[in-house]
Amino acid sequence: MDGLTGGINLPPSPDVPPATLARPSPMDADIEDVLIGPEDLQRRVAELAAELAGVYAERNPLLVGVLKGAVVFIVDLMRAMAIPLQVEFMAVSSYQGGTQTSGAVRIVMDLQTSVEGRDVLIVEDIVDSGLTLRYLRDYLLAQRPASLAVVALLNKDIARVDAVPIEYTGFRIPDRFVVGYGLDYAERYRNLPYIGVIKPVVTGGADGAVR
Ligand code: IMP
Ligand code: MG
Repeated sequence: MDGLTGGINLPPSPDVPPATLARPSPMDADIEDVLIGPEDLQRRVAELAAELAGVYAERNPLLVGVLKGAVVFIVDLMRAMAIPLQVEFMAVSSYQGGTQTSGAVRIVMDLQTSVEGRDVLIVEDIVDSGLTLRYLRDYLLAQRPASLAVVALLNKDIARVDAVPIEYTGFRIPDRFVVGYGLDYAERYRNLPYIGVIKPVVTGGADGAVR
């Protein structure tokens, strides 16, 4: 590793905690419950990365991050996977700003490269109804990848009529609307370093826990 360790020396700045660790934020007041703290997120992501690096060593996998929710997850995940890989992004929309799915999935931004013959790994933030994932799986499978698997940071504990395969899961969580670590409510809270349940008063009572 000689020669690979940093050439630029910065003086230590003890007052600035790493971005991935908890720091007080005015947004904290909108959160009623922290489900997964920053350290647990980091630890689980590192575990997933180690597992995936083992499975995909020598396969140059194509990680497909689903914007925007999976952005924090994929950045931490790929940095922790010490194997050759490529990364692409897709943007899909299903929620239109509320806490309930609208049912329709739409591709807002497509891949910039072919997935044919590639080992594709879809990187998702959360699986709720499974509609988005089902759509993405079918869409990518139609392009004949060598293999297709899904890693989802969060999997909501709900009964799905048609189970959609999720090969790798970070955490199973209760059926509540969560924000942070990439996940938003009305495009806010993505930069929180933890996964938290938003107060119903913030969403006008439309809490995802009540269906
Ligand atoms: P699904 O199609 O119902 O599985 O929903 C998938 C997408 O909806 C996820 O990729 C998220 O972007 C969004 N989503 C679902 N549940 C939540 C939540 O609790 N908080 C924030 N976004 C969510
Ligand atoms: Mg998403």
